[in-house]
Order: sequence, then C-alpha cells, then structure tokens
Amino acid sequence: MSRTVIRGGLVVTASDELHADVLIEDGRIAALAASGTPAAETFTAGRTIDATGKYVLPGGVDAHTHMELPFGGTFASDTFETGTRAAAWGGTTTVVDFAVQSVGRSLREGLDTWHAKAEGNCAVDYGFHMIVSDVNPGTLKEMDRLVEEGVTSFKQFMAYPGVFYSDDGQILRAMQRSAENGGLIMMHAENGIAIDVLVEQALARGETDPRYHGEVRKALLEAEATHRAIRLAQVAGAPLYVVHVSATEAVAELARARDEGLNVFGETCPQYLFLSADNLAEPNFEGAKYVCSTPLRPKEHQAALWRGLRTNDLQVVSTDHCPFCFTGQKDLGRGDFSKIPNGLPGIENRMDLLHQAVVDGHLTRRRWIEIACATPARMFGLYPKKGTLAPGADADVVIYDPHAEQVISAETHHMNVDYSAYEGKRVTGRVETVLSRGEPVITEREYTGRAGHGVYTPRSTCQYLT
Ligand code: URP
Ligand code: ZN
Ligand code: ZN
Ligand code: ZN
Repeated sequence: MSRTVIRGGLVVTASDELHADVLIEDGRIAALAASGTPAAETFTAGRTIDATGKYVLPGGVDAHTHMELPFGGTFASDTFETGTRAAAWGGTTTVVDFAVQSVGRSLREGLDTWHAKAEGNCAVDYGFHMIVSDVNPGTLKEMDRLVEEGVTSFKQFMAYPGVFYSDDGQILRAMQRSAENGGLIMMHAENGIAIDVLVEQALARGETDPRYHGEVRKALLEAEATHRAIRLAQVAGAPLYVVHVSATEAVAELARARDEGLNVFGETCPQYLFLSADNLAEPNFEGAKYVCSTPLRPKEHQAALWRGLRTNDLQVVSTDHCPFCFTGQKDLGRGDFSKIPNGLPGIENRMDLLHQAVVDGHLTRRRWIEIACATPARMFGLYPKKGTLAPGADADVVIYDPHAEQVISAETHHMNVDYSAYEGKRVTGRVETVLSRGEPVITEREYTGRAGHGVYTPRSTCQYLT
C-alpha cells in the first residue's frame, strides 16, 4: 500500500478550517486528524510532506474549459496535454471540458472525438459536458444515454447563429428532456440574433477595432437571454446553469429567479472579475487578446459579480479557458473584430486570482474553496470524490503557500499561448505541490506528472438541486 502524510498545514475546505495532518492511502484520503494529537501521531507513511505555514486544499475543479476547440477557422491552442499540465501548475486537478456536436452529426461522434483527443494525454483527471448544436429527435434520445454514461450536462447557445446556435424551441425541447433524464442545461445566454445585426451595422460604420466587440454584445442582450433561458427552464421544469455571467443585469435576473425558489445557477470567470472593457480598448490591436463572449464589461459590473459570489446568486468560478495566440490566431480579426476567435487563457491562473480575492477581502478562504472546488464538483456530480478533503475522497491535494509573491506572465506560465491576459499582475499566494490521486504532479514547483496519469471521470447528475 502506498502512503503519504501531509503534516502541519491549515486544511481549508468549503466548510472547515483546521490545523490537521492528512493521511493518504492508495490515492485516497484515508484520515484527517488535528496536528499534534495522538491520532495524528499514528499516521505513518513512506512519504511525508511538511505543510507547516501552508494551506492544504482540495484540488481545484475547473468546470469550463475548451481544449482544442474549433472556433472561427482555427483551434484553441492548448491540447489536453498542455492544458491539463498548466491546470496542475495552477492547482486545478479536475477539468470538465466541452465535447462538441457538429451540426448534422450525432452527440456520440462528438463525444468519441473528444475522448480521442484527451485519452492518454492528460496530467489530471477530466470529464466532459456536451455542446448540443443540433437538437433533433435523435439528439434528444442520445442525451438520455449520455446521462447514463456520466456526461450529465449539456451546453446550448443562444449566441453564434449558424454555428452553435439553438432557437427557443430547440432549447425548450432539450430542457424538457433534461427535466426527465436528470441532465443539466448550461446556457450561453446572449441574444445572438440581435448581436449579429449590431455587428453588421458596426462594421458598416467602419467600427472594426476589438473594442466594438464589447459594445455590440450589450449587457442588456445578455440579461434578455438570461431571462428567456430562465423562463424556458421554468416552463420545462428543468434546472439551469448559466455560464460566463458578466453583466450586472444578468446577475439581477439570476437573483430574482433564485428568490422565486427556482433551481437556477450562475457561473462567472476570473476575466470578468479582474479585467474590463478598458482592456478591450487597448491600442494597436492589443484589445484582441481580451475578446471573449460574453465580453469584458465596463469596470462597474465587477461589483455585482463579487456581490453575487458573496450572496450565492453566483455559485461557481470557472475559467472558460479557450486560448488563441495573439500572433497567428487573434490576428485573423485585424480589420474586422467579428473574425477574432473568441476566448481567453486562464486555466493556470484561477486558483491564484481567487486567492488574491481572499487577500483583497472579496471572499473568505472557505468561500474561495467553495466556488473553485466544492460547488463545481457538486454542480456536476463529482462530489465528494472531487472538491473536498474527506475520508474516501480522491487524494487531489494542493499545498498552497499563502505568503509567496508572484507576478503573472507569459514568460513563466505553462499554457500554450503567447500572451497572458494578466501580464504583470502581482498576486500573493502560489501553488507549491499538487497531488492527483496521491501522485505528485507538481513537487515544490517542479513538474513531476505525466501525460496519461489523468483519467476520464464519469459524473453523476447535479448534486446541487434544492
Ligand atoms: O469566448 C468564449 N467564451 N469562447 C469559448 C466558447 C464559449 O462561448 O464558451
Ligand atoms: Zn495557521
Ligand atoms: Zn459560451
Ligand atoms: Zn466556454
């Protein structure tokens, strides 16, 4: 039996903070005991990790990534190998990526394709959601089978007409199906039909710079779509999870629905908490680095997102990691912002940025772990295997130095992308050591993992319903 003991750290979970020693046996948490007590003295192991002065955290769960996503004539630049390695560097030990159904193809074909991309390549464990781009009777039947197989959540798009877009009827049908089979609909809530009109009009006026991407994708059109998605879900009797919420007005729609007692949930991402429309307006096409959808908003929106995280009107922070290099990929939209591939890198930065939010007083430590580990695990049926440190859980553990200072930079990051959205940002706190099922993936700031250690992790249905 392989055993590890982590001694002397402050164990932080969504519910508790405790100076405790952690015993790991065969890849799982075997026991926790208050440090220095006789119970902790009984923990013996071949490997001891001294965590004195450090935090001992459950590995991060990033429930929204897009490795190798085909978008706008190119592919997101992180593969499952490079992206999951970067995840580990940033203290994330589980990713849930989006498999894509192509229009005219089955869900199964899309899922098989994503399995082939990931299998044998991942440094940490992974699961899949399914992007449903073509709702038809066959697709609806397939959804039932996918839920049984552990793909229990489905993303639909109210944006991107002609690509991933679903109309209200298709959305309602998928929601009705998920009300029956236990699936969770994840919604990209922006009125894409209206946005496309505004895009066309902006381009006709010669407004081609990246900042117009933010101006045409209006907060009101996010709020309108959020409202519509909520009411469609209510009609269907289905729960709803709204992805990448960025606008104050959209948070208000979620808050209202939750006050009504609906099972409606919201996710935001570090880019909406730490970046703004000012970045999109950076000169010399630099703004292209910040083009994603929903777009970065004027700074004033950040307060509503922080408040939503505190009031639990927003429950999860995921990255929507979808990197495109500035040179050669973001470039495709020089002279036409609508051709800039949408997406930002961030899988490596999420845990640190949210720790900075703890330092800045936006979040408590336990809330940090709740929104980054425990709730995403519950929301997507991975708890308590993932998302907490408790006997029986996978030994996905992060030893975190809360006092280390670092400067985020593309020079030092491990994501396969030629810029950082947070270049030059100073943060307090740093991942030191990461275990995935007990195996050291990062050991005192050295990569000691391997492609293929990470395994596919089927999920149960949502464990967060009220
Ligand atoms: O701009 C983004 N968010 N790109 C990834 C695809 C999506 O809509 O999540
Ligand atoms: Zn302490
Ligand atoms: Zn989206
Ligand atoms: Zn996304």
